[in-house]
Amino acid sequence: MTSPAHIAIIMDGNGRWAKSRGLPRVAGHRAGVEALRDVVRAAPGLGISFLTVYAFSSENWSRPKSEVSDLMGLLKLFIRRDLAELHGQGVRVRVIGDRESLQPDIRSLLEEAETLTRHNTGLTLVIAFNYGGRDEIVRAVRKLSEAVLQGKIQPHDIAVHDFAAALDTSGIPDPDLVIRTSGEQRLSNFLLWQAAYSELVFVPCYWPDFSSAHLVEALRDFAGRERRFGGLSSQEAVSSALAR
Ligand code: IPE
Ligand code: IPE
Ligand code: MG
Repeated sequence: MTSPAHIAIIMDGNGRWAKSRGLPRVAGHRAGVEALRDVVRAAPGLGISFLTVYAFSSENWSRPKSEVSDLMGLLKLFIRRDLAELHGQGVRVRVIGDRESLQPDIRSLLEEAETLTRHNTGLTLVIAFNYGGRDEIVRAVRKLSEAVLQGKIQPHDIAVHDFAAALDTSGIPDPDLVIRTSGEQRLSNFLLWQAAYSELVFVPCYWPDFSSAHLVEALRDFAGRERRFGGLSSQEAVSSALAR
């Protein structure tokens, strides 16, 4: 089975997981961090080189203040507790999303994680934090507009690869597979540009219940898909060439 090089996960359902157990939502977020740890540990053994996880969206600020602050606290705890282990495993950390509006202590922790691990050659773990696809696209447009104003590039010379290079994900290949847990079937502003040709797998379980067995199952599902990228399937291409 050939594994997808890049898997992106929308880790959804923490709140409902907690509710179904009569627990506060924060208990679901804590259990979600455990599930994340397990998946990060399992990924390299499954042939995955890039793992992107949606941890906090640009729209999640609209949640109650206390939940937002719980989520900020959990990110800090995750970096503080897990960074050494991640580094030891050869994981390279990248963060995507808007950093400007984050508290300075969170910003510096994220930078520390990226700087410490930047020469690692194992799994690349991309953390989408304060991330929204539309926001990322608008920030990329601003960058390119600046470059135009400075005369570095002409508007008619802007190509698809220039735009991709102005996004937060510059240098990271597009995800082959996007997985969303909790049964919801939508992207919720995740990787709008990058997921143009990704295969989508929706898993009914809540994120805290997601395990490496679910990941293996999603990979099996992916292996049975035929990706065409707008062209023909390889078999159709051969027969159509032979018929000429
Ligand atoms: C996903 O779980 C985690 C974040 C969005 C941060 P939710 O908190 O969205 O859980 P549900 O969807 O309400 O169950
Ligand atoms: C998407 O889940 C964001 C993350 C998993 C971080 P949401 O729970 O915020 O998405 P909606 O509101 O159900 O679309
Ligand atoms: Mg949700």
